[in-house]
Amino acid sequence: MPDTVDLGQSTMGQAPLGPAPRHVAIIMDGNGRWAKMRGKPRTFGHSAGVEALRRTVEAAGDLEIPYVTVFGFSTENWRRPKDEVAALLELLRVYVGRDLDRLVRDGVRVRIIGARAGLAPDILGIIERAEMRTAHNARLHLTIAFNYGAQDEIARAVRRVAEDVATGRLAPEAVTAEAFASRLDTAGLPNLDVLVRTSGERRLSNFMLWQAAYAELVFVDTLWPDFDRGALEAAIADFRRRDRRYGGVARVE
Ligand code: FPP
Repeated sequence: MPDTVDLGQSTMGQAPLGPAPRHVAIIMDGNGRWAKMRGKPRTFGHSAGVEALRRTVEAAGDLEIPYVTVFGFSTENWRRPKDEVAALLELLRVYVGRDLDRLVRDGVRVRIIGARAGLAPDILGIIERAEMRTAHNARLHLTIAFNYGAQDEIARAVRRVAEDVATGRLAPEAVTAEAFASRLDTAGLPNLDVLVRTSGERRLSNFMLWQAAYAELVFVDTLWPDFDRGALEAAIADFRRRDRRYGGVARVE
């Protein structure tokens, strides 16, 4: 258990806090800048980023957040220099390979979303092993977006809808938001409550465009390798102070 879990309950004179988030997503940005500030190669920042992910997953478990989704490698990251792409692909092995036993023990269910086509067989093996070994866990659902781009995910889901309509498994009038969502990589996961992006950037960068429909966006200046339990708690406190209306009217105080 953490020493202190103050998710912002001390709100003297302020509006009451909303509920804790069920699904927190994070765009883990700023590894390169963090490394540069230390005169180190960008890959040094990515390794430090793995440590930050480890800390954050542990903190999320302690804080009883049931769903955490992180952006590990995007379909656009292939445009980076070859050496960096190789290092980024390696991160999955570094994180999952080294932490899998602990994740299994800690009740973490690991899911990897994104395009499988184009990934090397050894990476696919790591993904399958992680998903299989944690399939019965339910304390914390950790989803790692890897070779992921939201537009690609949506296009693949559209293809599934088209195939199902063409083969008669789905009537055109049955193509609802729910039917569509059940064909996304995130089928079965709740939509995002909060989307955190580190490093001061204020973009979605093709991440969870469908699932973020009503997400509260929290942008923090912290570079990802410096992210920790306190930063997660602060992001959650910020979220809980928001007045979520989903297109309705302000909540009654
Ligand atoms: C963005 O920082 C970060 C990434 C492209 C990689 C994120 C990966 C991790 C934090 C490690 C965990 C990953 C997995 C797959 C388990 P950047 O390099 O764009 O930083 P910059 O904007 O400062 O250049």
